[in-house]
Amino acid sequence: MAKLKLLVTGGAGFIGSNFIRYILKEHPEWQVVNLDKLTYAGNLSNLKDVEGTLRYKFIKGDIANHELVDKSFKEEEFDAVVNFAAESHVDRSILDASPFIETNVKGTQVLLEATRKYKLGRFIQISTDEVYGSLSETGKFTEESILQPNSPYAASKAAADMLCRAYYKTYEVPVIITRSSNNYGPYQFPEKLIPLMIRNALNGRELPVYGEGQNVRDWLFVEDNCWAIDLVLQKGQVGEIYNIGGNSEKKNIEVVELICSILERKTENRALRTKIRFIKDPRGVAHDFRYALDYSKIRKELGWNPQQKFEKGLERTIQWYLENQEWVKKVITGEYQEYYRKIYRV
Ligand code: NAD
Ligand code: TYD
Repeated sequence: MAKLKLLVTGGAGFIGSNFIRYILKEHPEWQVVNLDKLTYAGNLSNLKDVEGTLRYKFIKGDIANHELVDKSFKEEEFDAVVNFAAESHVDRSILDASPFIETNVKGTQVLLEATRKYKLGRFIQISTDEVYGSLSETGKFTEESILQPNSPYAASKAAADMLCRAYYKTYEVPVIITRSSNNYGPYQFPEKLIPLMIRNALNGRELPVYGEGQNVRDWLFVEDNCWAIDLVLQKGQVGEIYNIGGNSEKKNIEVVELICSILERKTENRALRTKIRFIKDPRGVAHDFRYALDYSKIRKELGWNPQQKFEKGLERTIQWYLENQEWVKKVITGEYQEYYRKIYRV
């Protein structure tokens, strides 16, 4: 595609900001408009380096606000949408599910409706492997696996996926869904496992591992996901779903121990492992044991494969956090401190 005007929602968050940077670099002809509500998780400092770019524009707003979305679509005349905007944290969804329904379900419907009305050429819904539910020790989810979401977060994402399907079937809105595994990399808000552990370790705080740390996640470097989404946007089949896996399954305790050893090597900090605390699991029985994705469809159809090995990607991520401790300080708000006290009971 030579020229494209792209609406990226949630572009001030972790994956969205990496994606905008990626698109502006890879596609010198494309324009990007970032629509973001700037919740606790959205920070314009994630995009400081692209702020002055003429091909980039920011609009502050809520995807669930029908009037604002309609006005932006009318004025901007987008060619395509990539919908990252979401409440994205499982633990918060357990404390209060309502913002997840408002943004992840209603917000997606508002965007689909505008996409239908203004006849855009593509709607990419950024979904998650969590819609499939939990696996035991073996097996992998394919795009045909049934949806069995266990947390309010996962349920809200599954509901959005169903709306996408319905808008495709009913109105022929050109929707494609991507479902990726756990992302990691620069600019991730420090409430998620990897950046939380890095921040706590650097600040001499305890490293809170839920349960016995035996849960398994399949880690995907954020740039690999950006590449996959770009491919899907350009070459994916309308009406289809694409799993995007990292081929890097790890137990949580392995991840935390690896973070400790990399940080011990890179800094003056010693004996970081003694800071590991196994805490009562705030997710209880709803804590999904294992996620793993079969991503052979995107590999075969679009030639995608995750490039970044986990150990190397984690090292790059840790190096980024070491060099950007001011960024971490900046994104931490009073709201986050309040949330932290509630979840970790400190
Ligand atoms: P994030 O929490 O870092 O960022 C979310 C962004 O959405 C923030 O900038 C926030 O301000 C914005 N936002 C929230 N509500 C909004 C609203 N109503 N209107 C407009 N903007 C709003 O999330 P992330 O980790 O970057 O995840 C991005 C997307 O990818 C989400 O849809 C998530 O479900 C999906 N996903 C994430 C992962 C992961 O590991 N992080 C894995 C699979 C799928
Ligand atoms: P998280 O990064 O929140 O992603 P998700 O729940 O969407 O997979 O958590 C990843 C795993 O790490 C999950 O099994 C929960 C666990 N976890 C901890 O053990 N301690 C923590 O402080 C956090 C935030 C997560």
